Amino acid sequence: MANPQPAILTNLTKYQWYTHLSRVEGADLGIIKAALRQLREDCGPMGVTQAVNACVLFGPTLLADLTDDIPDDFQKYPGYESPDGKIAKGTQEELLIWLHSEDKDLCWEAQFKFRNAVAGHMTVARETPTFIYRNSLDLTGFIDGTGNPAPEDQHDRGIVADGEPGAGGSFCIAQRWVHDLKYFNGLSLEDQENVFGRTKDDSTKLAVQVPTSHLSHVELREGTTADESTPKRGEMVRRSTPYAFHDGTVGLYFMGFSKTQAVLRERMEAMYGMSGNARDAITDYSTPASGSYYFAPSAETLDAALA
Ligand code: HEM
Repeated sequence: MANPQPAILTNLTKYQWYTHLSRVEGADLGIIKAALRQLREDCGPMGVTQAVNACVLFGPTLLADLTDDIPDDFQKYPGYESPDGKIAKGTQEELLIWLHSEDKDLCWEAQFKFRNAVAGHMTVARETPTFIYRNSLDLTGFIDGTGNPAPEDQHDRGIVADGEPGAGGSFCIAQRWVHDLKYFNGLSLEDQENVFGRTKDDSTKLAVQVPTSHLSHVELREGTTADESTPKRGEMVRRSTPYAFHDGTVGLYFMGFSKTQAVLRERMEAMYGMSGNARDAITDYSTPASGSYYFAPSAETLDAALA
Protein backbone atom coordinates (compact mmCIF):
# COMPACT_ATOMS: atom_id res chain seq x y z
CA MET A 1 0.00 0.00 0.00
CA ALA A 2 1.27 3.46 -0.92
CA ASN A 3 1.15 6.06 1.85
CA PRO A 4 0.50 9.79 1.53
CA GLN A 5 3.19 12.22 2.63
CA PRO A 6 2.40 12.53 6.36
CA ALA A 7 2.25 16.35 6.37
CA ILE A 8 -1.02 16.31 4.38
CA LEU A 9 -3.39 14.50 6.72
CA THR A 10 -1.70 15.03 10.07
CA ASN A 11 -3.06 17.77 12.35
CA LEU A 12 -2.22 21.17 10.96
CA THR A 13 0.29 22.94 13.15
CA LYS A 14 0.33 26.67 13.95
CA TYR A 15 2.64 28.09 11.24
CA GLN A 16 2.91 27.32 7.54
CA TRP A 17 5.40 28.38 4.88
CA TYR A 18 4.72 28.08 1.15
CA THR A 19 7.61 28.37 -1.33
CA HIS A 20 6.94 28.04 -5.08
CA LEU A 21 9.88 27.46 -7.42
CA SER A 22 10.60 26.65 -11.07
CA ARG A 23 13.71 25.43 -12.84
CA VAL A 24 16.00 27.77 -14.72
CA GLU A 25 17.41 26.95 -18.17
CA GLY A 26 20.02 24.17 -17.84
CA ALA A 27 19.04 23.25 -14.27
CA ASP A 28 20.75 20.14 -12.88
CA LEU A 29 18.03 17.73 -11.75
CA GLY A 30 20.58 15.85 -9.62
CA ILE A 31 21.16 18.94 -7.48
CA ILE A 32 17.43 19.51 -7.07
CA LYS A 33 16.89 15.89 -6.02
CA ALA A 34 19.76 16.05 -3.52
CA ALA A 35 18.31 19.26 -2.02
CA LEU A 36 14.86 17.63 -1.71
CA ARG A 37 16.39 14.55 -0.02
CA GLN A 38 18.18 16.82 2.43
CA LEU A 39 15.01 18.83 3.11
CA ARG A 40 13.06 15.67 3.92
CA GLU A 41 15.86 14.40 6.13
CA ASP A 42 16.06 17.72 7.98
CA CYS A 43 12.30 17.88 8.56
CA GLY A 44 11.73 14.18 9.26
CA PRO A 45 9.02 11.88 7.93
CA MET A 46 6.92 11.25 11.01
CA GLY A 47 4.19 13.91 11.07
CA VAL A 48 3.30 15.70 14.30
CA THR A 49 6.11 14.16 16.30
CA GLN A 50 8.58 16.06 14.10
CA ALA A 51 9.57 19.69 14.41
CA VAL A 52 8.60 20.48 10.82
CA ASN A 53 6.06 18.73 8.61
CA ALA A 54 7.25 18.92 5.02
CA CYS A 55 5.21 18.21 1.89
CA VAL A 56 6.81 18.19 -1.56
CA LEU A 57 4.45 18.90 -4.46
CA PHE A 58 5.17 18.99 -8.18
CA GLY A 59 3.66 20.70 -11.19
CA PRO A 60 3.05 18.54 -14.30
CA THR A 61 6.43 19.23 -15.98
CA LEU A 62 8.73 18.44 -13.05
CA LEU A 63 6.67 15.41 -11.99
CA ALA A 64 7.06 13.94 -15.49
CA ASP A 65 10.86 14.37 -15.27
CA LEU A 66 11.03 12.58 -11.92
CA THR A 67 8.73 9.57 -12.12
CA ASP A 68 6.58 7.37 -14.38
CA ASP A 69 3.96 7.17 -11.63
CA ILE A 70 1.82 9.96 -13.11
CA PRO A 71 -1.81 10.27 -11.96
CA ASP A 72 -4.64 10.44 -14.48
CA ASP A 73 -5.85 13.82 -15.70
CA PHE A 74 -3.20 16.06 -14.10
CA GLN A 75 -3.36 19.46 -15.77
CA LYS A 76 -1.70 22.77 -15.14
CA TYR A 77 -3.79 25.55 -13.62
CA PRO A 78 -5.44 27.41 -16.48
CA GLY A 79 -6.65 30.56 -14.70
CA TYR A 80 -10.36 31.38 -14.51
CA GLU A 81 -12.50 34.32 -15.62
CA SER A 82 -16.16 35.03 -14.92
CA PRO A 83 -18.46 36.33 -17.68
CA ASP A 84 -18.40 39.75 -15.95
CA GLY A 85 -14.60 39.91 -15.86
CA LYS A 86 -13.52 38.66 -12.41
CA ILE A 87 -10.17 36.93 -12.80
CA ALA A 88 -8.35 34.17 -10.91
CA LYS A 89 -5.02 34.32 -12.67
CA GLY A 90 -2.88 31.26 -13.29
CA THR A 91 0.64 31.26 -11.85
CA GLN A 92 1.65 27.63 -12.29
CA GLU A 93 5.15 26.74 -11.04
CA GLU A 94 7.02 23.43 -11.00
CA LEU A 95 7.57 22.85 -7.31
CA LEU A 96 5.83 23.76 -4.08
CA ILE A 97 7.48 23.18 -0.73
CA TRP A 98 4.78 23.31 1.94
CA LEU A 99 6.01 23.33 5.52
CA HIS A 100 4.05 23.49 8.75
CA SER A 101 5.23 23.50 12.33
CA GLU A 102 4.53 24.85 15.81
CA ASP A 103 7.71 26.89 15.31
CA LYS A 104 7.81 29.56 12.63
CA ASP A 105 11.59 29.90 12.85
CA LEU A 106 12.05 26.24 11.91
CA CYS A 107 9.83 26.68 8.84
CA TRP A 108 11.95 29.64 7.79
CA GLU A 109 15.18 27.74 8.37
CA ALA A 110 14.11 24.67 6.34
CA GLN A 111 12.98 26.66 3.31
CA PHE A 112 16.00 28.98 3.50
CA LYS A 113 18.37 26.03 3.47
CA PHE A 114 16.50 24.44 0.55
CA ARG A 115 16.38 27.55 -1.63
CA ASN A 116 20.10 28.11 -1.09
CA ALA A 117 20.81 24.49 -2.02
CA VAL A 118 19.02 24.90 -5.39
CA ALA A 119 20.30 28.43 -6.11
CA GLY A 120 21.34 28.70 -9.76
CA HIS A 121 19.02 25.79 -10.67
CA MET A 122 15.63 27.03 -9.47
CA THR A 123 14.18 30.46 -8.88
CA VAL A 124 11.72 31.25 -6.14
CA ALA A 125 8.58 32.60 -7.81
CA ARG A 126 6.80 33.49 -4.56
CA GLU A 127 6.55 32.56 -0.90
CA THR A 128 3.95 33.09 1.79
CA PRO A 129 4.20 32.47 5.52
CA THR A 130 0.76 31.84 7.05
CA PHE A 131 -0.72 31.08 10.47
CA ILE A 132 -3.74 29.51 12.14
CA TYR A 133 -5.97 32.37 13.33
CA ARG A 134 -7.77 31.65 16.64
CA ASN A 135 -10.13 28.65 16.28
CA SER A 136 -9.34 28.16 12.56
CA LEU A 137 -10.95 31.40 11.48
CA ASP A 138 -10.66 33.05 8.12
CA LEU A 139 -9.79 36.76 8.61
CA THR A 140 -13.48 37.57 7.94
CA GLY A 141 -14.16 35.93 11.33
CA PHE A 142 -15.88 32.87 9.82
CA ILE A 143 -14.77 29.38 10.88
CA ASP A 144 -12.96 27.67 8.01
CA GLY A 145 -12.97 23.88 7.83
CA THR A 146 -16.40 22.89 9.23
CA GLY A 147 -17.45 20.91 6.13
CA ASN A 148 -14.15 19.03 5.85
CA PRO A 149 -14.53 15.23 5.86
CA ALA A 150 -14.20 13.67 9.34
CA PRO A 151 -10.56 12.83 10.14
CA GLU A 152 -11.17 9.10 9.67
CA ASP A 153 -12.59 9.75 6.17
CA GLN A 154 -9.90 12.13 4.95
CA HIS A 155 -7.62 9.44 3.54
CA ASP A 156 -10.45 8.00 1.45
CA ARG A 157 -11.59 11.44 0.19
CA GLY A 158 -8.21 13.06 -0.38
CA ILE A 159 -5.80 10.34 -1.47
CA VAL A 160 -5.60 8.46 -4.81
CA ALA A 161 -6.73 4.86 -4.19
CA ASP A 162 -4.40 1.86 -4.35
CA GLY A 163 -4.21 0.29 -7.78
CA GLU A 164 -4.62 3.61 -9.61
CA PRO A 165 -1.83 5.65 -11.22
CA GLY A 166 -0.41 7.96 -8.56
CA ALA A 167 -1.76 5.77 -5.72
CA GLY A 168 -1.10 7.25 -2.29
CA GLY A 169 -0.66 10.70 -3.83
CA SER A 170 -2.96 13.70 -3.77
CA PHE A 171 -3.99 16.50 -6.13
CA CYS A 172 -3.63 19.98 -4.69
CA ILE A 173 -4.88 23.48 -5.38
CA ALA A 174 -2.81 26.33 -3.90
CA GLN A 175 -3.97 29.93 -4.16
CA ARG A 176 -3.28 33.17 -2.31
CA TRP A 177 -6.59 35.03 -2.02
CA VAL A 178 -6.45 38.76 -1.22
CA HIS A 179 -9.37 39.97 0.89
CA ASP A 180 -10.97 43.42 0.83
CA LEU A 181 -11.88 43.32 4.52
CA LYS A 182 -13.14 46.92 4.49
CA TYR A 183 -15.79 45.88 1.97
CA PHE A 184 -16.63 42.64 3.78
CA ASN A 185 -16.82 44.23 7.24
CA GLY A 186 -19.17 46.87 5.78
CA LEU A 187 -21.76 44.18 4.97
CA SER A 188 -24.61 43.48 7.42
CA LEU A 189 -24.28 40.24 9.44
CA GLU A 190 -27.06 38.73 7.31
CA ASP A 191 -25.23 39.55 4.08
CA GLN A 192 -21.94 38.24 5.49
CA GLU A 193 -23.60 34.94 6.44
CA ASN A 194 -25.19 34.67 3.00
CA VAL A 195 -21.73 35.03 1.41
CA PHE A 196 -20.74 31.66 2.86
CA GLY A 197 -24.11 30.06 3.65
CA ARG A 198 -23.16 29.52 7.29
CA THR A 199 -23.59 31.50 10.52
CA LYS A 200 -20.69 33.56 11.79
CA ASP A 201 -20.72 32.58 15.46
CA ASP A 202 -20.82 28.78 15.17
CA SER A 203 -20.74 27.87 11.46
CA THR A 204 -24.29 26.44 11.36
CA LYS A 205 -25.43 25.87 7.82
CA LEU A 206 -28.23 28.22 6.73
CA ALA A 207 -31.48 26.43 5.84
CA VAL A 208 -31.85 28.57 2.73
CA GLN A 209 -28.83 28.91 0.47
CA VAL A 210 -28.94 31.92 -1.85
CA PRO A 211 -27.62 31.17 -5.39
CA THR A 212 -24.49 33.25 -4.73
CA SER A 213 -23.55 31.52 -1.44
CA HIS A 214 -20.18 29.78 -1.30
CA LEU A 215 -21.81 26.48 -0.33
CA SER A 216 -24.07 26.68 -3.40
CA HIS A 217 -20.85 26.42 -5.42
CA VAL A 218 -18.56 24.09 -3.51
CA GLU A 219 -20.72 21.68 -1.48
CA LEU A 220 -20.97 19.12 -4.28
CA ARG A 221 -23.83 16.63 -3.97
CA GLU A 222 -25.14 13.77 -6.08
CA GLY A 223 -28.17 16.04 -6.65
CA THR A 224 -28.35 19.82 -6.38
CA THR A 225 -25.32 21.50 -4.84
CA ALA A 226 -25.66 22.06 -1.06
CA ASP A 227 -28.92 20.03 -0.94
CA GLU A 228 -28.54 17.68 2.03
CA SER A 229 -31.13 15.20 0.81
CA THR A 230 -28.49 13.58 -1.44
CA PRO A 231 -24.99 12.33 -0.52
CA LYS A 232 -21.86 14.44 -0.94
CA ARG A 233 -19.60 13.69 -3.90
CA GLY A 234 -16.10 14.73 -4.93
CA GLU A 235 -15.11 15.84 -1.44
CA MET A 236 -11.82 17.55 -0.70
CA VAL A 237 -9.63 18.06 2.36
CA ARG A 238 -8.86 21.72 3.04
CA ARG A 239 -5.80 22.98 4.90
CA SER A 240 -6.19 26.73 4.30
CA THR A 241 -4.72 29.37 6.62
CA PRO A 242 -4.64 33.18 6.73
CA TYR A 243 -1.68 35.47 6.05
CA ALA A 244 -0.98 39.17 6.69
CA PHE A 245 1.80 41.09 4.93
CA HIS A 246 3.58 44.17 6.22
CA ASP A 247 2.06 46.32 3.45
CA GLY A 248 -1.44 45.62 4.77
CA THR A 249 -2.33 42.91 2.23
CA VAL A 250 -4.31 40.18 4.00
CA GLY A 251 -6.27 37.10 2.99
CA LEU A 252 -6.55 33.35 2.89
CA TYR A 253 -3.95 30.93 1.56
CA PHE A 254 -6.27 28.34 0.08
CA MET A 255 -4.78 24.84 0.20
CA GLY A 256 -6.94 21.85 -0.70
CA PHE A 257 -6.36 18.18 -1.52
CA SER A 258 -8.47 15.68 -3.46
CA LYS A 259 -8.13 12.33 -5.18
CA THR A 260 -9.07 13.68 -8.61
CA GLN A 261 -8.25 17.10 -10.01
CA ALA A 262 -11.59 17.36 -11.84
CA VAL A 263 -13.46 18.21 -8.62
CA LEU A 264 -11.10 21.13 -7.96
CA ARG A 265 -11.59 22.46 -11.49
CA GLU A 266 -15.37 22.00 -11.19
CA ARG A 267 -15.47 24.11 -8.02
CA MET A 268 -13.33 26.89 -9.50
CA GLU A 269 -15.49 27.04 -12.65
CA ALA A 270 -18.62 27.20 -10.47
CA MET A 271 -17.20 29.94 -8.22
CA TYR A 272 -16.42 32.02 -11.32
CA GLY A 273 -19.90 31.50 -12.81
CA MET A 274 -18.46 29.71 -15.83
CA SER A 275 -21.21 27.10 -16.03
CA GLY A 276 -24.10 29.53 -16.51
CA ASN A 277 -24.57 29.85 -12.74
CA ALA A 278 -24.30 32.92 -10.47
CA ARG A 279 -20.75 33.87 -9.44
CA ASP A 280 -19.72 33.01 -5.84
CA ALA A 281 -20.19 36.02 -3.52
CA ILE A 282 -16.67 35.40 -2.14
CA THR A 283 -15.36 36.81 -5.44
CA ASP A 284 -17.05 40.16 -4.66
CA TYR A 285 -14.55 40.77 -1.86
CA SER A 286 -11.62 38.46 -2.53
CA THR A 287 -9.35 37.81 -5.54
CA PRO A 288 -6.59 35.23 -5.93
CA ALA A 289 -3.19 36.81 -6.53
CA SER A 290 -1.80 33.40 -7.47
CA GLY A 291 -3.08 29.94 -8.35
CA SER A 292 -1.48 26.60 -9.21
CA TYR A 293 -2.27 22.90 -9.35
CA TYR A 294 0.21 20.41 -7.95
CA PHE A 295 0.45 16.72 -7.20
CA ALA A 296 1.95 15.41 -3.97
CA PRO A 297 3.21 11.90 -4.80
CA SER A 298 3.04 9.15 -2.20
CA ALA A 299 5.96 8.88 0.25
CA GLU A 300 7.12 5.72 -1.56
CA THR A 301 7.00 7.27 -5.06
CA LEU A 302 8.84 10.30 -3.71
CA ASP A 303 11.52 8.07 -2.16
CA ALA A 304 12.02 6.30 -5.51
CA ALA A 305 11.96 9.52 -7.56
CA LEU A 306 14.61 11.19 -5.42
CA ALA A 307 16.87 8.13 -5.03
C1 HEM B 1 -11.23 33.40 -0.29
C2 HEM B 1 -11.36 32.11 -0.50
C3 HEM B 1 -12.22 31.20 0.35
C4 HEM B 1 -12.75 31.41 1.60
C5 HEM B 1 -12.60 32.62 2.51
C6 HEM B 1 -13.50 30.23 1.93
C7 HEM B 1 -14.20 30.07 3.11
C8 HEM B 1 -15.05 29.01 3.36
C9 HEM B 1 -15.93 28.91 4.50
C10 HEM B 1 -16.06 29.96 5.61
C11 HEM B 1 -16.59 27.74 4.39
C12 HEM B 1 -17.70 27.21 5.34
C13 HEM B 1 -17.13 26.47 6.49
C14 HEM B 1 -16.36 25.25 6.09
O1 HEM B 1 -16.91 24.22 5.72
O2 HEM B 1 -15.14 25.37 6.07
C15 HEM B 1 -16.10 27.05 3.21
C16 HEM B 1 -16.50 25.80 2.79
C17 HEM B 1 -15.94 25.14 1.72
N1 HEM B 1 -15.09 25.66 0.78
FE1 HEM B 1 -14.31 27.51 0.78
N2 HEM B 1 -13.40 29.33 0.89
C18 HEM B 1 -12.64 29.89 -0.09
C19 HEM B 1 -12.30 29.32 -1.31
C20 HEM B 1 -12.61 28.04 -1.69
C21 HEM B 1 -12.17 27.40 -2.91
C22 HEM B 1 -11.30 28.06 -3.97
C23 HEM B 1 -12.64 26.12 -2.90
C24 HEM B 1 -12.48 25.00 -3.89
C25 HEM B 1 -11.80 25.07 -5.01
C26 HEM B 1 -13.39 25.96 -1.65
C27 HEM B 1 -13.98 24.79 -1.24
C28 HEM B 1 -14.77 24.67 -0.11
C29 HEM B 1 -15.43 23.44 0.27
C30 HEM B 1 -15.30 22.08 -0.42
C31 HEM B 1 -16.19 23.73 1.42
C32 HEM B 1 -17.05 22.75 2.23
C33 HEM B 1 -18.33 22.44 1.53
C34 HEM B 1 -19.10 21.38 2.27
O3 HEM B 1 -19.59 21.64 3.37
O4 HEM B 1 -19.17 20.28 1.73
N3 HEM B 1 -13.35 27.15 -0.96
N4 HEM B 1 -15.18 27.86 2.59
